[in-house]
Amino acid sequence: MTITSDPAQIPEFPMARAAGCPFDPPPALRSKQEEGPLTKVRLWDGSTPWLVTRYAEQRALLADPRVSADITRPGYPSPAPVNGSSISFILMDDPEHARLRRMVTAPFAIRRVEAMRPAVQKIVDDLIDGLLAGPKPVDLVEAFALPVPSLVICELLGVPYADHDFFQDNSKTIIKRDATPEQRFASFGRLADYLDGLMGEKLADPGDDLLSRLAERVTAGELSRQEAAQMGVLLLIAGHETTANMIALGTLALLEHPDQLALLRQSDDPKLVAGAVEELLRYLNITHNGRRRLALADIEIAGHTIRAGDGLIMANDIANRDPAAFPDPDRLDLHRDARHHVAFGFGVHQCLGQPLARMELQVVYSTLYRRIPTLRLAADLERIPFKHDGSVYGVYELPVTW
Ligand code: HEM
Repeated sequence: MTITSDPAQIPEFPMARAAGCPFDPPPALRSKQEEGPLTKVRLWDGSTPWLVTRYAEQRALLADPRVSADITRPGYPSPAPVNGSSISFILMDDPEHARLRRMVTAPFAIRRVEAMRPAVQKIVDDLIDGLLAGPKPVDLVEAFALPVPSLVICELLGVPYADHDFFQDNSKTIIKRDATPEQRFASFGRLADYLDGLMGEKLADPGDDLLSRLAERVTAGELSRQEAAQMGVLLLIAGHETTANMIALGTLALLEHPDQLALLRQSDDPKLVAGAVEELLRYLNITHNGRRRLALADIEIAGHTIRAGDGLIMANDIANRDPAAFPDPDRLDLHRDARHHVAFGFGVHQCLGQPLARMELQVVYSTLYRRIPTLRLAADLERIPFKHDGSVYGVYELPVTW
């Protein structure tokens, strides 16, 4: 089968969400999914990659070794202009990707992450104590959602939390879709310089943290200092921005679904909480710009021929609402078994930090609404500023009271 539509008719990507439906993917994406598993879209640079909307085809392509994540290849469907110096292993292929990823996997292993649970519980409890003792209403993003994962990733990496304004502001610019390329590159440069400086300190005086382990590899000649700094930037951004958005947007989704919130308030069953985390990851799918890839060979799939050199966008937000994989997909149902969702991606680039993100979200969702049972929005839903312009979806602010 070939796509024969008039080039002028090819829709632009990303598509807009419907007004008043902040938790649902854009309606145009739903229509594309109903039309078929593969279709074409137009990007900011005029290129027309494939848009893969269905769950089964997305998983098949994300696991296919003929599909590349290397952003420097011509034809890669980049969400914005590319700067070679701001690349880490998330945008590389094996064997380079595997070589670098292997160097940072240890602290994200489930056993190591579980050992951090009491410390994360303490961070969450202390922040809630602060909320309860402070003035209200309060912005939950600033006072809780950002500090939780930032404190955790700082501890894990060995980054001083006192620098949080600096790294949070620059991370925001990097993932903001409407930032100019110059702004984005400048922010990346500032973060890379900052991580490079820290790397210098760890080389001289290593501690019990991941940056110090990377510094040892630099000393051993297994890693360049630039590669180490770039990995540090990736881990620092990915480690706080995503989880923070899941905390704030997840809380908003629960406040808007009081029957589901009641389940979490009334039960401390770890199985229910773990299931709730998976379902909220599926339902909200905050990485809403799609997984970007490039075909390295001709690939036959679902009656289509993807040609070598064609760009691919795996829209994981709509795949997580594919009725073939999740019955009644638009319903938030904390009792659903949603573990097979693609909110963490799929294949070799599947999220490295997922055990940590899961554990942090389990601690937050099982604590916040039980300790503040009357938590509620302090503004109308229409007034909440959503991150439509970012590569990670969420809310800029969440005014709450109790
Ligand atoms: C709820 C929170 C999170 C979500 C939804 C999320 C989502 C994702 C997704 C979709 C990918 C796949 C990218 C692709 O295939 O192109 C990914 C990769 C990655 N994530 Fe996460 N992430 C989260 C939390 C974290 C945390 C806490 C860390 C810790 C540092 C982290 C580190 C990474 C890294 C390093 C990669 C690249 C993996 C690779 O290329 O091999 N993420 N994440």
